[in-house]
Amino acid sequence: MAPRKLAAGNWKMNGTLASLAEIDQLLSDHLAPGCDVLICPPATLVHALAARTQGKIAVGGQDCHAKTSGAHTGDIAAAQLQDAGASHAILGHSERRTDHAETDEQVRGKAVAAHEAGLVAVICVGETEAQRDAGQTLDVISAQLAGSVPDCATAANTVIAYEPVWAIGTGRTPTNDQIAEVHALMRDRLSARFDDGADIALLYGGSVKPGNAAEIFAIPHVNGALVGGASLKAQDFGPIIAALA
Ligand code: G3P
Repeated sequence: MAPRKLAAGNWKMNGTLASLAEIDQLLSDHLAPGCDVLICPPATLVHALAARTQGKIAVGGQDCHAKTSGAHTGDIAAAQLQDAGASHAILGHSERRTDHAETDEQVRGKAVAAHEAGLVAVICVGETEAQRDAGQTLDVISAQLAGSVPDCATAANTVIAYEPVWAIGTGRTPTNDQIAEVHALMRDRLSARFDDGADIALLYGGSVKPGNAAEIFAIPHVNGALVGGASLKAQDFGPIIAALA
């Protein structure tokens, strides 16, 4: 079974109920067979989006807690996301690793919680610009994969997103060779560790736009994208889906 293609949108801290009109346009004009679509809106919109889309696209959260319930003000349990209609959760995004000092160990705990709640964990890894300049990219990615991906990961419950920190929201992207090198490394590491590691979907994220999507999707072991800014408008995200389908 080859990995399924996935176009995933991460709305980050953007959007209100009015923004869901973009999703209506996405559903009517831009879905394509052979390519799964996932939108991860702010937590406030998960339930409304799931109710509005009725399974035509997947809906995800942007984080979850490693515990199932309790005194954790402001946090969300994986089962609560699932209850609201989510099927996925982005975990270990670099903005959470930076803003909330999340460690690989914490991300792994969250991924286990997501799996136990029946969610697909979209686990993010990526080097900073300083790490790339120092020639540490492959070591950083290997360590993040080893530390953040739990032993219970399978092709059915896990997606990995390679997001170079310096490419996020900057309009800069790695060269095709740089993306290919990291994705080949991730495929090797996952295949060596998991029985179905060859089938775990690998996404690229970082300044994916309609203009560069087709080129990025042609790179070996790139099974889709995790898109930030360009996922907010159907007119931008639609062509990215089309480039993948
Ligand atoms: O998670 C997606 C993201 O970090 C990439 O953001 O705006 O560069 O597409 P953007």
